[in-house]
Amino acid sequence: MTPMDVQLDGPPSQVMTGFAQRLQRAEDILCAVAAGHGPGEIVLASSLSAEDMVLTHLIVALSLPIGVFTLDTGRLHQETLHLIAQAKERLGVAIDVRQPDPEAVNDYVATHGRDAFYESLELRQRCCAIRKVAPLALALEGKAAWITGQRRQQGQTRGALEEIEFDTARGMKKLNPLASWSWSDVMTYVRLYEVPINPLHARGYPSIGCEPCTRAIRPGEDHRAGRWWWEQKNSKECGLHVPGAPTV
Ligand code: ADX
Ligand code: SF4
Repeated sequence: MTPMDVQLDGPPSQVMTGFAQRLQRAEDILCAVAAGHGPGEIVLASSLSAEDMVLTHLIVALSLPIGVFTLDTGRLHQETLHLIAQAKERLGVAIDVRQPDPEAVNDYVATHGRDAFYESLELRQRCCAIRKVAPLALALEGKAAWITGQRRQQGQTRGALEEIEFDTARGMKKLNPLASWSWSDVMTYVRLYEVPINPLHARGYPSIGCEPCTRAIRPGEDHRAGRWWWEQKNSKECGLHVPGAPTV
């Protein structure tokens, strides 16, 4: 699954036409939201996934005043963390790195154990709440809209994802400009524009979260099958993404 191994889903000319349309759509969404808001009001939440590196590259290529932040949970792979420096060196983007409240992390570890997320869904969601959801709320304070790299094809919980929604939980617009993109689209963009991506993608990890909660997938498995692999398919969300209301 390196950029060079992109699997095209049809004759190359048709694939590229579809890709060009989806790329144009993503650009239109980003430009429209940037035009409607002041600098600093719109942010991209980047997990440093290939999708988010594509969006970061698009923001730079279109010179949009959109900031980029990442939630460093303290449990990310070294390969993921390395992309923060690569975004600076290769794309010129200083990613705002947000960390969880150390006291909340220490309390969790002291009470339940560092890896207690394997024990129950409740303890897993509690860990995500501390390391991801609470820092997300702080990162979004005072913002008008946030952008994510979610795609419909990522799995069962994302099949009905809208490109533009209203995040009722956070009281702001939420944009998913790559909602209609396939993994091939993402890899096509990466290859065309030489976007730096996580080397783990080439080792069977299309979806990457925290190191202890992510494994490589097997051929034919859903792209998010390696996330919280010990849980049921319909629980595979960490609380960052609460279904929103569609907007017009
Ligand atoms: S997750 O909710 O299960 O972790 P996933 O890894 O598929 O989500 O990522 C979907 C989108 O959520 C990313 O494209 C990004 O916009 C946002 N996101 C996920 N994890 C992070 C993170 N650690 N920091 C910032 N944004 C994140
Ligand atoms: Fe904790 Fe795993 Fe959630 Fe990361 S993905 S915050 S380690 S439970």
